[in-house]
Amino acid sequence: MTNDTTQSKPLNVLVMAAGLGTRMKSNRAKVLHELGGRPLIAHVARTAASLKPQKIIVVVGYQAEEVETATRAEVGELASFVLQAEQRGTGHAMECARALLENSDSLLLSLYGDGPLIRAETMRNLIEHHRASGASCSILSVRLENPTGYGRIIRDESGQFQRIVEQKDATEEERKIREINSGIYCFETKDLFEALKRVEPKNQQGEYYLTDVAEILLALGRKVEVFVHHDAREVSGINTRAELAEFENLLRRNAIRRLMLEGGVTFIDPSHAYVSPDAQIGRDTIVHPDVTIEGTSVIGEGCVIRSGARITNSRLGDEVVVKDHSVIVDSEIASKCSVGPFAHLRMNAALEEKATVGNFVEVKKSRLKRGTKAMHLSYLGDATIGERTNIGAGTVTCNYDGVRKHETVIEDDVKIGSDTMLVAPVRVGARSVTGAGSVVTKDVPPDSLVAGVPAEIKKTLK
Ligand code: UD1
Ligand code: CA
Repeated sequence: MTNDTTQSKPLNVLVMAAGLGTRMKSNRAKVLHELGGRPLIAHVARTAASLKPQKIIVVVGYQAEEVETATRAEVGELASFVLQAEQRGTGHAMECARALLENSDSLLLSLYGDGPLIRAETMRNLIEHHRASGASCSILSVRLENPTGYGRIIRDESGQFQRIVEQKDATEEERKIREINSGIYCFETKDLFEALKRVEPKNQQGEYYLTDVAEILLALGRKVEVFVHHDAREVSGINTRAELAEFENLLRRNAIRRLMLEGGVTFIDPSHAYVSPDAQIGRDTIVHPDVTIEGTSVIGEGCVIRSGARITNSRLGDEVVVKDHSVIVDSEIASKCSVGPFAHLRMNAALEEKATVGNFVEVKKSRLKRGTKAMHLSYLGDATIGERTNIGAGTVTCNYDGVRKHETVIEDDVKIGSDTMLVAPVRVGARSVTGAGSVVTKDVPPDSLVAGVPAEIKKTLK
């Protein structure tokens, strides 16, 4: 029975995330454990948000504050939270949201915070089916080879849904049923809260079962639909660290496969590459074994990323070469730069086109302009370095006086001699040269040669 009122009913989403998740053997709430670099709850919240619901209500309990923060970081003000201080079952978790939902003429999609693989399309299909059938409650079910532990879908001889029975309450016969309740439902909100009043903890676990609502609604003469879904993995939750690792693998394999097939990226050994699902990599880039690309990193076309490199939340232009064992975090590298081996770029390090950072060079919060090179054993912190400048081996920007950080400015076409100490704040003018081992404590004017400890002007160049 489809009608316009049903069609136009707004949607709310409820996510149950109050439990600790005992089988994780962790001090952290299960939904805070990370998959693909983001907490489980963030995955569910992001997918739910893509349906554009009125609000997403998250039932929190264990480490409520952290779970709230993680959810807000993903969907902001769209999320509201209700506290379930004691976990007395899924029916009780829903009950905690009564004040927020009871009087709302809406549909409610109910999900678990520990089921991160659920796709928006599946949610949409369930909601569409629910709307079209005019049901009061629609249950997403799947068939499992091994249904142990799950609530079973009980149907009569004609296949009509009757009720859900939990593993612990089921008879031997019922336990043979392979069709299980995924725990994902779409409800008419008002009907749900009406039926929820009648749920009692009369079962093996002494819990309030949300699943009892289906049977109660049937008894009230309402329609209950079961929507059979064919991808069991997608709706399965994470219970153990072994499952978490399996999902991580799956996500990673999918991301890499997509990059190879759709993105034209070469992976020398796809089984030993670690790429965040949120990362982008351009065509003809080659990724060697044991590379980790994390967060929202964006890598351009035709780059070469050698073994052991880690790139986190950074942007690389085209034709960048990252040599072995370099670490690049929160940084930006323009096209045709070369980094490493064993380089460390962090805290908004920026390399402009054709800049080179070589062996054992650390660049922190510094900018190297076009064509500038720091090839060996240097620390460049809080520095701005001009174009075509050469930083000799062992150069250090002495940026910290024990209390504060100070800046170093090196202008264009400078030659910093090996082992120069630049005691910041200090500026080296364009085209100047520092002699090997100089300790530069005062600004160097343009076109000068300085040397010594502390460095003094020896002559004016040109
Ligand atoms: C529930 C269903 C079962 C279904 C299974 C699918 C009930 C009674 N049973 O099983 O039919 O096959 O899910 O996974 O609903 N949670 C709370 N507060 C609580 C209880 C649970 O927030 O008081 C949250 C948990 O943190 C978890 C989710 O709800 O994320 C599911 O709880 P869990 O105990 O794993 O499911 P079951 O009750 O065993
Ligand atoms: Ca349980």
